[in-house]
Amino acid sequence: MGAPAPLLSVRDLTVTFPTKRGPVRAVDSLAFDVLPGRTLGIVGESGSGKSVTSLAVMGLHTGAEIKGSVTLAGRELIGLSDRELNALRGRRMAMIFQDPLSSLHPYYTVGEQVAEHHRVHFGSRRAIARERAVEALAEVGIPEPRRRAGEYPHQFSGGMRQRVMIAMALVCEPDLLIADEPTTALDVTVQAQILELIARLQQERGLSVVMITHDLGVVARVAHDVLVMYGGRAAEHAPVDALFTSPAHPYTRGLLDSLPRLDDPDDAPLRAIPGGPPSLLEPAPGCAFAPRCPRAAVGSAEERGRCTSERPSLGGPDGHPAACHFPAYEGVAP
Ligand SMILES: Nc1ncnc2c1ncn2[C@@H]1O[C@H](COP(=O)(O)OP(=O)(O)O)[C@@H](O)[C@H]1O
Ligand SMILES: [Mg+2]
Repeated sequence: MGAPAPLLSVRDLTVTFPTKRGPVRAVDSLAFDVLPGRTLGIVGESGSGKSVTSLAVMGLHTGAEIKGSVTLAGRELIGLSDRELNALRGRRMAMIFQDPLSSLHPYYTVGEQVAEHHRVHFGSRRAIARERAVEALAEVGIPEPRRRAGEYPHQFSGGMRQRVMIAMALVCEPDLLIADEPTTALDVTVQAQILELIARLQQERGLSVVMITHDLGVVARVAHDVLVMYGGRAAEHAPVDALFTSPAHPYTRGLLDSLPRLDDPDDAPLRAIPGGPPSLLEPAPGCAFAPRCPRAAVGSAEERGRCTSERPSLGGPDGHPAACHFPAYEGVAP
């Protein structure tokens, strides 16, 4: 038996926004697979194209030019009508966001909203949809789900609201859950609980999950595989253990170095990678990370010239490619 066929397969995905100042290429030639029952972490700084990628997969972009291929269980999604996509969203794939309040209606009870989702996608009777909603709220760990189903979003804490969103995402039993920074707005304890919940549901239901985050700590907790994005492109792609033990791309190493460590004093300053994200309006010819790259900085003039003039393609060992002219495999410093 070969490897299982991917549930989600993205190839050559390029998303360009026409703007007054020119085209913004937010995602460029991106490719990844998500296998059934696995979690892919997509990690990168703010502006690296993570949300644009997830919205493209869900077919939620308006006004953007989208090229490439996105297949879900073998079916091409790019080019489907809104109607076809609407049918798939919910039933086959669902998404949760950073801010549940913006996705919940203030005037309807939480139970009504979860039930409505079920009704729309399954054409179920109200009483049945209502039961499914209570079951879903119970499954995501909301205490007294029958009573709380009758409450309004503002009566829930941030963490409980995110549980409601997860219940809404799961009530139609999708195969794929895309979670875009689902814990970023939550405090650390609640964040851990939500990540645990997603990991448990993923295991129990054999869900495929795309976990989008700027935080490698989140990736370490839930992901099997990790795609590191920089400037709309893939910088590195690896199984989670390989990424943490032998990060090949200097950008990944920088992200790892900026993680707080257990032996840090409490008042230690956060270590961020110096510099800012690259311009997507006028991309530099070479590696987008070169201006901030510690490896490029210590390279010979010839090496630096390569970094600033020649865009690195994704290469390296099977299963752990990196887009760098001087990657550091096997933990060897670049
Ligand atoms: N509708 C849009 N029009 C123009 N540019 C956009 C639009 N949406 C996103 N972008 C740009 O695409 C880039 C990636 O955005 P995004 O995917 O939201 O980043 P993040 O990795 O933080 O989720 C950003 O530079 C952003 O300004
Ligand atoms: Mg985002």
